[in-house]
Amino acid sequence: MNNRKNIKRYRGSVNREDREKRNKHKSAVFWMTGLSGSGKSTIAHAVEKKLFDMGILVYVFDGDNVRHGVCDDLDFSQEDRTENIRRISEVAKLFVDLGSVCFCAFITPLESDRSIARNLLGDDFKEIHVDCSLEKCEKRDTKGYYAKARAGSIQSYTGISAPYNPPKFPDLLVNTDTEVLSESVDKVISFVLNCIQPAMD
Ligand SMILES: Nc1ncnc2c1ncn2[C@@H]1O[C@H](COP(=O)(O)OP(=O)(O)OP(=O)(O)O)[C@@H](O)[C@H]1O
Ligand SMILES: [Mg+2]
Repeated sequence: MNNRKNIKRYRGSVNREDREKRNKHKSAVFWMTGLSGSGKSTIAHAVEKKLFDMGILVYVFDGDNVRHGVCDDLDFSQEDRTENIRRISEVAKLFVDLGSVCFCAFITPLESDRSIARNLLGDDFKEIHVDCSLEKCEKRDTKGYYAKARAGSIQSYTGISAPYNPPKFPDLLVNTDTEVLSESVDKVISFVLNCIQPAMD
Protein backbone atom coordinates (compact mmCIF):
# COMPACT_ATOMS: atom_id res chain seq x y z
CA MET A 1 0.00 0.00 0.00
CA ASN A 2 1.39 3.42 -0.86
CA ASN A 3 1.45 6.12 1.81
CA ARG A 4 -0.72 8.71 0.04
CA LYS A 5 -1.35 10.66 3.22
CA ASN A 6 2.31 11.65 3.24
CA ILE A 7 2.20 12.99 -0.32
CA LYS A 8 1.15 16.56 -1.00
CA ARG A 9 0.50 18.16 -4.37
CA TYR A 10 2.69 21.01 -5.52
CA ARG A 11 0.80 23.63 -7.49
CA GLY A 12 2.85 25.45 -10.11
CA SER A 13 2.03 28.92 -11.34
CA VAL A 14 1.20 27.83 -14.91
CA ASN A 15 -2.12 26.06 -15.23
CA ARG A 16 -4.13 24.28 -17.89
CA GLU A 17 -6.06 27.41 -18.84
CA ASP A 18 -2.83 29.35 -19.39
CA ARG A 19 -1.61 26.60 -21.67
CA GLU A 20 -4.89 26.34 -23.56
CA LYS A 21 -4.89 30.08 -24.07
CA ARG A 22 -1.41 30.01 -25.52
CA ASN A 23 -2.20 26.97 -27.70
CA LYS A 24 -5.39 28.71 -28.88
CA HIS A 25 -7.40 25.54 -28.43
CA LYS A 26 -8.82 23.49 -25.61
CA SER A 27 -7.48 20.09 -24.62
CA ALA A 28 -9.35 16.80 -24.58
CA VAL A 29 -8.91 13.06 -24.92
CA PHE A 30 -10.47 11.28 -27.89
CA TRP A 31 -10.73 7.63 -26.97
CA MET A 32 -10.97 5.40 -30.02
CA THR A 33 -12.44 1.98 -29.33
CA GLY A 34 -13.07 -0.78 -31.85
CA LEU A 35 -12.07 -4.25 -32.97
CA SER A 36 -8.53 -4.99 -34.05
CA GLY A 37 -8.26 -3.92 -37.70
CA SER A 38 -11.24 -1.56 -37.49
CA GLY A 39 -8.99 1.42 -38.27
CA LYS A 40 -8.22 3.12 -34.94
CA SER A 41 -4.50 3.63 -35.62
CA THR A 42 -4.96 4.53 -39.28
CA ILE A 43 -7.56 7.19 -38.50
CA ALA A 44 -5.85 8.52 -35.35
CA HIS A 45 -2.52 9.05 -37.10
CA ALA A 46 -4.09 10.57 -40.23
CA VAL A 47 -6.05 12.97 -38.04
CA GLU A 48 -2.95 13.73 -35.95
CA LYS A 49 -1.02 14.76 -39.07
CA LYS A 50 -3.80 17.11 -40.23
CA LEU A 51 -4.24 18.69 -36.80
CA PHE A 52 -0.47 19.04 -36.38
CA ASP A 53 -0.30 20.87 -39.70
CA MET A 54 -3.01 23.20 -38.40
CA GLY A 55 -0.78 24.10 -35.44
CA ILE A 56 -2.61 22.04 -32.85
CA LEU A 57 -0.69 20.38 -30.02
CA VAL A 58 -1.64 16.77 -30.63
CA TYR A 59 -0.40 13.30 -29.69
CA VAL A 60 -1.52 9.72 -30.32
CA PHE A 61 -1.24 7.04 -27.66
CA ASP A 62 -1.38 3.83 -29.62
CA GLY A 63 -2.04 0.48 -27.97
CA ASP A 64 0.88 -1.24 -29.64
CA ASN A 65 3.35 1.55 -28.92
CA VAL A 66 2.67 2.01 -25.23
CA ARG A 67 3.15 -1.69 -24.63
CA HIS A 68 6.77 -1.18 -25.73
CA GLY A 69 7.34 1.39 -23.02
CA VAL A 70 5.24 2.65 -20.14
CA CYS A 71 3.23 -0.61 -20.10
CA ASP A 72 5.91 -3.11 -21.15
CA ASP A 73 5.59 -4.96 -17.86
CA LEU A 74 1.94 -5.81 -18.59
CA ASP A 75 0.54 -8.87 -20.35
CA PHE A 76 -2.90 -9.60 -21.81
CA SER A 77 -4.56 -11.00 -18.68
CA GLN A 78 -7.75 -9.12 -17.80
CA GLU A 79 -6.04 -7.62 -14.77
CA ASP A 80 -3.15 -6.28 -16.86
CA ARG A 81 -5.44 -5.05 -19.66
CA THR A 82 -7.30 -3.01 -17.06
CA GLU A 83 -4.03 -1.69 -15.62
CA ASN A 84 -2.92 -0.79 -19.16
CA ILE A 85 -6.04 1.37 -19.59
CA ARG A 86 -5.76 2.90 -16.12
CA ARG A 87 -2.13 3.87 -16.71
CA ILE A 88 -2.75 5.38 -20.14
CA SER A 89 -5.75 7.28 -18.79
CA GLU A 90 -3.53 8.78 -16.09
CA VAL A 91 -0.88 9.74 -18.64
CA ALA A 92 -3.56 11.21 -20.94
CA LYS A 93 -4.81 13.23 -17.98
CA LEU A 94 -1.37 14.80 -17.64
CA PHE A 95 -1.43 15.59 -21.37
CA VAL A 96 -4.79 17.30 -20.89
CA ASP A 97 -3.19 19.45 -18.21
CA LEU A 98 -0.46 20.22 -20.74
CA GLY A 99 -3.19 21.62 -22.99
CA SER A 100 -2.85 18.98 -25.67
CA VAL A 101 -5.28 17.02 -27.79
CA CYS A 102 -4.77 13.29 -27.23
CA PHE A 103 -5.97 10.32 -29.15
CA CYS A 104 -6.00 6.98 -27.37
CA ALA A 105 -6.25 4.14 -29.90
CA PHE A 106 -6.98 1.03 -27.87
CA ILE A 107 -9.39 -1.83 -28.56
CA THR A 108 -10.79 -1.30 -25.03
CA PRO A 109 -13.38 -4.05 -25.48
CA LEU A 110 -15.01 -3.78 -22.07
CA GLU A 111 -17.33 -1.02 -20.98
CA SER A 112 -15.91 -1.47 -17.47
CA ASP A 113 -12.42 -0.53 -18.72
CA ARG A 114 -13.69 2.41 -20.76
CA SER A 115 -15.47 3.58 -17.60
CA ILE A 116 -12.12 3.80 -15.83
CA ALA A 117 -10.94 6.31 -18.44
CA ARG A 118 -14.28 8.12 -18.49
CA ASN A 119 -14.43 8.45 -14.72
CA LEU A 120 -10.86 9.64 -14.48
CA LEU A 121 -11.10 12.17 -17.30
CA GLY A 122 -14.69 13.36 -16.82
CA ASP A 123 -15.87 15.81 -19.50
CA ASP A 124 -12.45 15.68 -21.16
CA PHE A 125 -13.18 12.10 -22.25
CA LYS A 126 -14.74 11.85 -25.72
CA GLU A 127 -15.55 8.37 -26.95
CA ILE A 128 -15.20 7.54 -30.64
CA HIS A 129 -16.43 4.15 -31.74
CA VAL A 130 -14.51 2.97 -34.78
CA ASP A 131 -17.08 0.44 -35.88
CA CYS A 132 -16.44 -2.29 -38.41
CA SER A 133 -17.89 -5.77 -38.79
CA LEU A 134 -15.85 -8.67 -37.49
CA GLU A 135 -16.05 -10.21 -40.98
CA LYS A 136 -14.36 -7.19 -42.53
CA CYS A 137 -11.73 -6.87 -39.80
CA GLU A 138 -10.95 -10.55 -40.13
CA LYS A 139 -10.66 -10.22 -43.88
CA ARG A 140 -8.22 -7.30 -43.44
CA ASP A 141 -6.30 -9.23 -40.78
CA THR A 142 -3.66 -6.49 -40.82
CA LYS A 143 -1.47 -8.23 -38.26
CA GLY A 144 -2.31 -11.87 -39.04
CA TYR A 145 -3.66 -12.30 -35.50
CA TYR A 146 -7.21 -13.27 -36.48
CA ALA A 147 -5.89 -16.30 -38.35
CA LYS A 148 -3.80 -17.22 -35.32
CA ALA A 149 -6.78 -16.72 -32.99
CA ARG A 150 -8.98 -18.94 -35.21
CA ALA A 151 -6.25 -21.56 -35.17
CA GLY A 152 -6.14 -21.34 -31.38
CA SER A 153 -2.54 -20.17 -31.14
CA ILE A 154 -3.63 -16.83 -29.62
CA GLN A 155 -6.01 -17.13 -26.66
CA SER A 156 -8.64 -14.58 -25.56
CA TYR A 157 -8.63 -12.65 -28.81
CA THR A 158 -11.24 -9.89 -28.97
CA GLY A 159 -14.09 -10.77 -31.33
CA ILE A 160 -13.06 -14.43 -31.61
CA SER A 161 -12.55 -15.83 -28.14
CA ALA A 162 -13.07 -12.72 -26.00
CA PRO A 163 -15.99 -10.28 -26.02
CA TYR A 164 -16.26 -6.80 -27.49
CA ASN A 165 -18.91 -4.60 -25.85
CA PRO A 166 -19.76 -1.84 -28.34
CA PRO A 167 -20.34 1.54 -26.71
CA LYS A 168 -24.06 2.28 -26.39
CA PHE A 169 -23.76 6.06 -26.59
CA PRO A 170 -20.43 7.02 -28.21
CA ASP A 171 -19.82 10.72 -28.73
CA LEU A 172 -18.97 9.92 -32.34
CA LEU A 173 -19.45 6.86 -34.50
CA VAL A 174 -17.43 6.13 -37.62
CA ASN A 175 -18.04 3.03 -39.70
CA THR A 176 -15.07 1.84 -41.68
CA ASP A 177 -17.14 -0.91 -43.32
CA THR A 178 -18.97 1.71 -45.32
CA GLU A 179 -16.75 4.83 -45.21
CA VAL A 180 -13.51 5.37 -47.08
CA LEU A 181 -10.61 6.58 -44.94
CA SER A 182 -10.97 10.24 -45.97
CA GLU A 183 -14.63 10.25 -44.89
CA SER A 184 -13.82 8.80 -41.47
CA VAL A 185 -10.93 11.24 -41.05
CA ASP A 186 -13.07 14.25 -42.00
CA LYS A 187 -15.78 13.19 -39.55
CA VAL A 188 -13.26 12.90 -36.72
CA ILE A 189 -11.60 16.21 -37.58
CA SER A 190 -14.84 18.19 -37.55
CA PHE A 191 -15.86 16.57 -34.27
CA VAL A 192 -12.47 17.34 -32.70
CA LEU A 193 -12.40 20.94 -33.92
CA ASN A 194 -15.85 21.48 -32.50
CA CYS A 195 -14.78 20.10 -29.11
CA ILE A 196 -11.53 22.05 -28.81
CA GLN A 197 -12.53 25.48 -30.07
CA PRO A 198 -11.67 28.10 -27.48
CA ALA A 199 -14.38 30.03 -25.68
CA MET A 200 -14.89 33.48 -27.25
CA ASP A 201 -14.16 36.24 -24.76
N1 LIG B 1 -12.43 4.10 -43.40
C1 LIG B 1 -11.30 3.51 -42.97
N2 LIG B 1 -10.70 3.98 -41.86
C2 LIG B 1 -9.59 3.40 -41.38
N3 LIG B 1 -8.98 2.32 -41.92
C3 LIG B 1 -9.53 1.80 -43.04
C4 LIG B 1 -10.71 2.36 -43.60
N4 LIG B 1 -11.03 1.62 -44.67
C5 LIG B 1 -10.09 0.66 -44.76
N5 LIG B 1 -9.17 0.75 -43.79
C6 LIG B 1 -8.01 -0.15 -43.60
O1 LIG B 1 -8.25 -0.92 -42.40
C7 LIG B 1 -7.01 -1.24 -41.74
C8 LIG B 1 -7.11 -0.76 -40.28
O2 LIG B 1 -5.94 -1.13 -39.57
P1 LIG B 1 -5.48 -0.42 -38.22
O3 LIG B 1 -4.12 -0.93 -37.90
O4 LIG B 1 -5.66 1.04 -38.33
O5 LIG B 1 -6.55 -1.00 -37.19
P2 LIG B 1 -6.57 -0.86 -35.60
O6 LIG B 1 -7.99 -0.61 -35.25
O7 LIG B 1 -5.56 0.12 -35.15
O8 LIG B 1 -6.18 -2.32 -35.12
P3 LIG B 1 -5.38 -2.81 -33.79
O9 LIG B 1 -6.36 -2.75 -32.66
O10 LIG B 1 -4.98 -4.21 -34.11
O11 LIG B 1 -4.19 -1.92 -33.59
C9 LIG B 1 -5.91 -0.54 -42.52
O12 LIG B 1 -5.32 -1.47 -43.39
C10 LIG B 1 -6.68 0.54 -43.32
O13 LIG B 1 -6.03 0.86 -44.52
MG1 LIG C 1 -3.86 -0.02 -33.90
